[in-house]
Amino acid sequence: MSITYNQTAKTFFLKTKNSSYVMKISDFDNLLHLYYGAPIPDENLDYLIQLQDRGFSPNPFEAGNNRSFSLDFLPQEFSTNENGDYRSSSIEVQNPDGSRTFSGKVTEYHIEEGKHLLETMPSLRAGSEDTVHTLTIRLTDEAAGLCADLIYSVFEEKDVITRSVLLTNSGSAPVKVGRLMSATLDFMDSDYDLIYFAGRHTMEREEIRIPVERGIHSIGSTRGTSSHQYNPSVILCTKGADEDQGKCYGFSLIYSGNFLIEAEKDQYSQLRLNAGINPKGFSYALAPGESLEAPEMVLAFTCRGLTALSHIYHDVYRENLCRSPYVKRPRPVLINSWEAAYFDFDEEKLLNIAKNAAQMGVELFVLDDGWFGKRNNDSSSLGDWTVNRAKLKHGLKGLSDQIHNMGLSFGLWIEPEMVSEDSDLYRAHPDWCLRVPGRPAVRGRYQLVLDLSRPDVCRYLADTINHLLSEARIEYIKWDMNRSLSDAWSGMLDRNSQGEVYHKYILGLYRIMDEVILTHPDVIFCGCSGGGGRYDPGMYYYQPQIWCSDNTDAISRLKIQYGTSFIYPMSALESHVSICPNHQTGRTVSLKTRGIVAMDGIFGYELDSTRLSEDEKAQCRAQVQAYKRFEDLILTGDYYRLTSPYTNPFFTAWQYVSKDKRRAVVSLVLTDKESNDAQRFVKPRGLLADAFYQVDGTDRVLSGSLLMNAGIPIPFELKEYEGIQFGLTLLEGEPR
Ligand code: GLA
Repeated sequence: MSITYNQTAKTFFLKTKNSSYVMKISDFDNLLHLYYGAPIPDENLDYLIQLQDRGFSPNPFEAGNNRSFSLDFLPQEFSTNENGDYRSSSIEVQNPDGSRTFSGKVTEYHIEEGKHLLETMPSLRAGSEDTVHTLTIRLTDEAAGLCADLIYSVFEEKDVITRSVLLTNSGSAPVKVGRLMSATLDFMDSDYDLIYFAGRHTMEREEIRIPVERGIHSIGSTRGTSSHQYNPSVILCTKGADEDQGKCYGFSLIYSGNFLIEAEKDQYSQLRLNAGINPKGFSYALAPGESLEAPEMVLAFTCRGLTALSHIYHDVYRENLCRSPYVKRPRPVLINSWEAAYFDFDEEKLLNIAKNAAQMGVELFVLDDGWFGKRNNDSSSLGDWTVNRAKLKHGLKGLSDQIHNMGLSFGLWIEPEMVSEDSDLYRAHPDWCLRVPGRPAVRGRYQLVLDLSRPDVCRYLADTINHLLSEARIEYIKWDMNRSLSDAWSGMLDRNSQGEVYHKYILGLYRIMDEVILTHPDVIFCGCSGGGGRYDPGMYYYQPQIWCSDNTDAISRLKIQYGTSFIYPMSALESHVSICPNHQTGRTVSLKTRGIVAMDGIFGYELDSTRLSEDEKAQCRAQVQAYKRFEDLILTGDYYRLTSPYTNPFFTAWQYVSKDKRRAVVSLVLTDKESNDAQRFVKPRGLLADAFYQVDGTDRVLSGSLLMNAGIPIPFELKEYEGIQFGLTLLEGEPR
């Protein structure tokens, strides 16, 4: 049993294969946190809590004259508010009498088999092979009339524990909730580094690693989406932890809206990690009998370094999060029309691009923005999802049929959450967008945001997308979202509930996606928000691939893809070969290098194939074939970051290894080149030390241990920005 309760010690003991997690009910029924880390036996951990009379650390009334019991320093599972704990709290409420106290005491618990599923948001689910148990601990505040169910599901074999909270108003008057964190995790020490992923439009998820210092370090989003700026997944690791060794804790929030993650090092050098919906602008009016769910947090722990942590997330997200049947299935190699034509196309031009792409081995043609309404630039028509016959004379069906006749499947771009002021939809329903009465709405890329907190808008959108999918044969949808939210006000909510708009927007979005995406399992949905502005576990639940960045420059992508790989499987990442000079950076690198970098994920093209020479098209054909040879490794294998683009200025290398370790593919791009340079070596990882591998395309046969320890020399003649890629295949029998 992965969850046990010890009556005598009053401890809850959660265990996975390689981790233990221990909580305790205090003498006064508070829920304390005792331990999370490497596996330990279920013994008495009481000695870890050293009570002290500490100045200015108040004592709860029930502690009587015991001045050494204070929530100001005790490690807790769910920090109460206004009750003597001055650190970043798990909850903030406004009770019917205006007070802000929440003091939850353990009143009951139960342990059951199976995974707890959230009702309103995506969450992990147990696979047929998984042993999962769920523990629910109820914290009740009688005076406030509130109870918080802390829910823990333990994936024993996968080294994953999920946490979420269900807050219920059990009283008789409404309560305002200003903050409800998904998980609070207290550590009794703080000797850790915090790793997070920060960025901006066209440069997402750069790895930042900082020591945890006194005070609160917070990251998050208030943009209505998880954002380009910060990702809702972070890592805490011991100092010196690297890819191969060190203790690493992962925290990944399954949520696509405003989030907050705080790392607080307190006065006694203890650390609190708090994560959940961002309280800024959030306020939820909880009526009697009503409940509010906090999004699910996926916790993982390993002693074996960052690669092992990544493998835990890659596996559990592929197997237990993403609902698409394509998650481990090959996806068609695509060509996307955006950088090929932008808004400037007609049917003939598109068919020519598709025809040339077919010669390159491409399997799917994706028509990006510009096909609907009168959209010839980005100032109009969002909301009018009817084809522009001036551009596509045979309509969507006509175009799709002709593309299919070439042997390609057909994909389409939509941006359903938005509306242009110059659109029939806006003229008919000006009240459907987010806007504060009496104020003009803030524009972003000339567009306004539809109010997805409204059920009627959600209904309309689900029907519209479903209708579109029936209009023509469409095998792929790129679901885009191109601005940050603002003007949080909804005509459907009363004045007390306006603080719910951003959260309800996300719940509305999830409902639409439940209806559209999960009921069209044959269609591949690709997520996008100006590239990677909504690259989060919530979206991965619905969409097996996400456009990683609007930056298609191969050298920039080395960093973007590297940062993304810490938590997200590379099979969730869409990457394309585009034209040079690159449209975002102006940089020129070889077609070969662009191919190698784009093969680090779900491969495709984003260029005008009619402008490629015959020789270039032949190169592309070879790229598609090369990709197909190891595509299964991307979909199901293990990923290794061989170097970091932040610490190795000379080259960036990465590798896929099949789960049975029989096949691997190593890729490398030279990022800096000096004259008469040092000899450098690339060292594969994750191979069988005692086995022998053939280096594909050569007659070299080397042992796994030699490859991993001495490596392979990087050819001297390789020039700056050039890349190489080679496969390794396990050889049966004796080496030659
Ligand atoms: C966003 C996407 C791009 C492209 C454009 C179209 O920026 O990230 O890939 O689809 O919109 O307007």
